[in-house]
Amino acid sequence: MTTTDLPLLTLGRGVDPHAERGVDCPGALPPASDPDLVARARAAKEALGEKVFVLGHHYQRDEVIAFADVTGDSFKLAREAAARPEAEYIVFCGVHFMAESADILTADTQRVILPDLAAGCSMADMARLAQVEDAWDALVEAGVADQVVPITYMNSSADIKAFCGRHGGAVCTSSNAEVALRWAFEQHGPDTKVLFLPDQHLGRNTAVLELGHSLDDCVVWNPFRTSGGLTSAQLADARMILWRGHCSVHGRFSEHVVDELRATVPDIQILVHPECKHEVVTRADLVGSTEFIIRTIENAPAGSSWAIGTELNLVQRLANAHPDKRIVFLDKTVCYCATMNRIDLPHFVWALENLVAGNVVNVIEVDAETQKWAEVALQRMLDLPGI
Ligand code: 13P
Ligand code: SF4
Repeated sequence: MTTTDLPLLTLGRGVDPHAERGVDCPGALPPASDPDLVARARAAKEALGEKVFVLGHHYQRDEVIAFADVTGDSFKLAREAAARPEAEYIVFCGVHFMAESADILTADTQRVILPDLAAGCSMADMARLAQVEDAWDALVEAGVADQVVPITYMNSSADIKAFCGRHGGAVCTSSNAEVALRWAFEQHGPDTKVLFLPDQHLGRNTAVLELGHSLDDCVVWNPFRTSGGLTSAQLADARMILWRGHCSVHGRFSEHVVDELRATVPDIQILVHPECKHEVVTRADLVGSTEFIIRTIENAPAGSSWAIGTELNLVQRLANAHPDKRIVFLDKTVCYCATMNRIDLPHFVWALENLVAGNVVNVIEVDAETQKWAEVALQRMLDLPGI
């Protein structure tokens, strides 16, 4: 069995419509120095009125969040998009996979717009459909595919979600990964295995810390090695087959900084996202999605001290909103999500002013077949008990 070669695209050149790579944003953007950008954004939004609904992920810049009708983590935003049938245009201030999910969950008449098409996600790009299909073939060859339930993190392209839908699996987010994994492990009795895509850390952290599996129950599938770099015996013994993907932002947080902060700041509490490495998560006091992180800080007593391991736009916003609490970032260097940050005021104004002028730009549209199966996987998530 061989591995699939992927085309190499130079940044800004070439288009790969099946991935979040190599896309660029056409048209004349207003200059970032334009002092009227805020007024222009406000005027365009007012002109569009009820026709437009703006969703903002928590990692977006403040200048963009200021125009969001609703903010949330990827799970909340998927639900909010589905609950707005009256909006003709959903402007998604987030990244490509989120806009795809919104397109899948909204009516065919609604258009989902991503203000900058280059706002992708490096983690989502780490699992490509051809690679996942190769992996599945290898699982069939190893005689274990019948026991495997594929679960993909929301942070994946629509065709990976569709793959999971077609193979009896589901989507999960960082808010419901535990419930989704419990559901998955019930699908084929005690011998069930899960293929978890594309974030090995969320998969491992949830399986080990929430479901009580051991680290030895987890193996890592390397898509660049034949048969994932795993033997048939390793596959037969594994409960969790973790795709070798990760978030380049959350992957930066290190256990050494946690240890250092604990040694220097008395009573500091460490609050991290489950996309962080296992060594970081096991040293943290609390772990959860971006919504969980926000709720935790909102409910924390005045005077408490926190080090937060998630994207910097959100941590800064929390620190500004809660001056009565001591909030620091869990990394010594600046750590923004570069692709989330691509949605800025010039792109937002450009997208909205085009809508006002009757030009629907940067539409994210998932093809009908992919949509059908991705919706199956998303619906299985939305139907999970108690979420
Ligand atoms: P949540 O907002 O679902 O916690 O995910 C974090 C993230 O990395 C989004 O890209
Ligand atoms: Fe992707 Fe990580 Fe950025 Fe989220 S924070 S969009 S997972 S790279």
